Amino acid sequence: TSTHLKPASAGSRAGSPRGVHPPETPRPGFSPRVRPHAKRAPLLVRRGDPGYYAGLFSTADFEAALRGGEVHFGTHLDVTSYAEGVRETHNPSGRALPAVVWDFYQNGCSLRLLSPQTFSPTVWHFLSILQEHFGSMAGANTYLTPPGTQGFAPHYDDIEAFVLQLEGKKHWRVYSPRTDAEVLPQFSSANLTQAELGEPVLEAVLEAGDLLYFPRGFIHQGDCLPDAHSLHITVSSYQRNSWGDLLEKLLPAALQMALEEDVEYRQGLPMDYLGYMGVANSDARDALLTQSEKAQNTEVRLLRHGVIRLCNEEAGVMLYYTTENSRVYHKEEPKFLEIDPEYTDSIEFLLSSYPNHVSVNTLPCETLEDKISLATLLFEKGILTTKKPLVQV
Ligand SMILES: *[C@@H]1O[C@H](CO)[C@@H](O)[C@H](O)[C@H]1NC(C)=O
Repeated sequence: TSTHLKPASAGSRAGSPRGVHPPETPRPGFSPRVRPHAKRAPLLVRRGDPGYYAGLFSTADFEAALRGGEVHFGTHLDVTSYAEGVRETHNPSGRALPAVVWDFYQNGCSLRLLSPQTFSPTVWHFLSILQEHFGSMAGANTYLTPPGTQGFAPHYDDIEAFVLQLEGKKHWRVYSPRTDAEVLPQFSSANLTQAELGEPVLEAVLEAGDLLYFPRGFIHQGDCLPDAHSLHITVSSYQRNSWGDLLEKLLPAALQMALEEDVEYRQGLPMDYLGYMGVANSDARDALLTQSEKAQNTEVRLLRHGVIRLCNEEAGVMLYYTTENSRVYHKEEPKFLEIDPEYTDSIEFLLSSYPNHVSVNTLPCETLEDKISLATLLFEKGILTTKKPLVQV
């Protein structure tokens, strides 16, 4: 849910994601697949030490926050329930008075304190250290759940989640993302139903001192056993902190700089650009390949006789072409394609036929597929033109 994460209010950007589970190895350059996401998995850390997180946050700290009088329903505190498949929020409006809050709790509602760092200097300090470590915002919520109840529907979040069991116990089930589109999602899911879930990849009862990590996009649900309440804090990080999110910020800035510094970017668009750009024309390049019936009858010729030069070199047959040469910078290397020697005859055929058009199926290649793929390649490089436009606009 979107309220699941509220960024901590302070902290600077530093450090690398090294040490995050699973460890990432930052490499120079643009490498969004540094680590295949398929390897991401939930992790359960059993400490066998109920006092492991002592002092971080407790029900007593929650009570103290309520008594402080600055906790407001909705803004800082959500009263929730999930029973018989129905998820409800019971927030009254205004200040969360302790008696009202505890009454909800006695009636089986869960209490989610948003951004406990607002009320707890210890949590605030803890998050600021993690934020430094991750190089990304860190946030937190605490969840107090009465015995025998569940406060939330199964769902996934847009953050890396670290569940720290502070008091009592909680039974957790974690499920893998269901589709590729739900792997490392940008946004949290809706409330899901049990029928939408498969088998959990992890099921465990967390006890005080234990930690459960699950990656962004892993569906999860936690419920209390009949005999124990639960208090946990979920620490979150990596919200909108992907390569794509970074580029979303960088590219417009880079483009603006290019516009200011390079006159090429300020040239007016060609008058006919709508005739070959945009979604309406996106099939044009593939038209030769996809519709082979049509393709073989397509009449083509070289753009100009001088547009290519065929050279037999030690490394192979090279086709030098000029259509991609920049008109601004003359220091670039000549553009060439290494072509299959079998295509030599067809290239020579195109040269000798110029300026007449020839059908793709008359190219002296062995198979129709070869004829079409050679024609497509040359067409994509702008070396070949077709007699008729491939797409009528
Ligand atoms: C889940 O259901 C609750 C209660 O209706 C609602 O307040 C909450 O916004 C829902 N979550 C999402 C992500 O839709």
